[in-house]
Amino acid sequence: MKQIFTNLVGIDDIKISRRDIFVENGFITKKFKLDEETEIIDCNGLILVPSFVDMHTHFRDPGFTYKEDLKTGSMSALKGGYTTVNLMPNTNPIVSSKKVYEDIIKRAEDLDLIDIKQVFSITKDFKSNDLSHLKDLPKGLLFLSNDGKGVDDDFSMYQAIKIAKENKLKFTLHEECKEISKYDYEIAEDLMTLRDCYLSYKMDVPIHFSHVSTKGSIKAIKHFKDLGAKITCEVTPHHIYFSERNDLKVNPPIRKEKDRLALIEMIKKGYVDCISTDHAPHTKEEKNEGKPGFIGLETAFSTSYMTLVKSGIISLNDLVRIMSTNPSRLLEIKKGKIEEGYLADFTLIDLDKTYIYKEEDILSKSKNSLFIDEKLDGQIVRVYKKGILKYDINRKTL
Ligand code: DOR
Repeated sequence: MKQIFTNLVGIDDIKISRRDIFVENGFITKKFKLDEETEIIDCNGLILVPSFVDMHTHFRDPGFTYKEDLKTGSMSALKGGYTTVNLMPNTNPIVSSKKVYEDIIKRAEDLDLIDIKQVFSITKDFKSNDLSHLKDLPKGLLFLSNDGKGVDDDFSMYQAIKIAKENKLKFTLHEECKEISKYDYEIAEDLMTLRDCYLSYKMDVPIHFSHVSTKGSIKAIKHFKDLGAKITCEVTPHHIYFSERNDLKVNPPIRKEKDRLALIEMIKKGYVDCISTDHAPHTKEEKNEGKPGFIGLETAFSTSYMTLVKSGIISLNDLVRIMSTNPSRLLEIKKGKIEEGYLADFTLIDLDKTYIYKEEDILSKSKNSLFIDEKLDGQIVRVYKKGILKYDINRKTL
């Protein structure tokens, strides 16, 4: 199948170009001569970027599918311009076995909406110190995490790192000392971040820090990155949009303005590798009971574009780098660039469009968004995966 994407402004992490993009069998290719079989795709003068890739997503499937399942989560991702997500293992059962892992991957492949990567738990069923499940690892596994909880036990973390090294696995870590966070959530994040920066450096293992939210943690990460540790990190759209809001229940919590500014400063300086959503669906009742987290896939681009690009802090190329190019590299997929050999996963955006995000427009099963009825800039119009149209704002179903 040959395609030419035309009438566009292509933006990746480096380039801005008005050139047509040539695609063959789902991959970007060299310029070729048009024949009668070639499909011409008019992009209506819109911005075309490599589709977004989320390093940190909760789809609640299996076990909590009343909040989200693989299908509704994937539709929500597409609405936000994503064609790849990295699912956290805090489902029911927890993803601590090959059986649960393989079932999710198989069902996601059958759905064929987006690409789904699945994270495996560090400790078995998130227990404090059981690593027995790491003897039988699924094929294709990349990341370990106990997201939602930190690994409090130092010896378990040390042993897990040794096992990960032997198996060429990486970590994506939720940093929170459980005992301390009840009293001081800032120290709880900083202390565990420091421990794991040190372990990454000393034991030479790749660690990605999830939803970094404090000035202390991002400074520690900068320090160890400068030393050459194999460290990467992400921040969420909500931690750079809000500050000083104790009423918004999320883990880690919305921080002080000094923290928000420190995160933004480090994004500007290139120390933050990814913007990740921490898309965390919950029902209205659960939110009223105080469950932490918010959905975020559908609004991540607009809010990050507003906070970082419209305000003049970084360029659109930089935003593409942290929402697509860098997470693609971490997930070891051929996405995130408009270059020959890369997959034709494209998101078309109307940058000039201001829209109101309405509850009835949400495609996630849960409606716990921070941005309902907010005026947002930059609307996702179409999403292609391997050259195939998967989402079109003008069509409810494809
Ligand atoms: O707010 C959060 N919600 N933080 C987490 O780490 C977990 C997530 C969830 O699973 O709901």
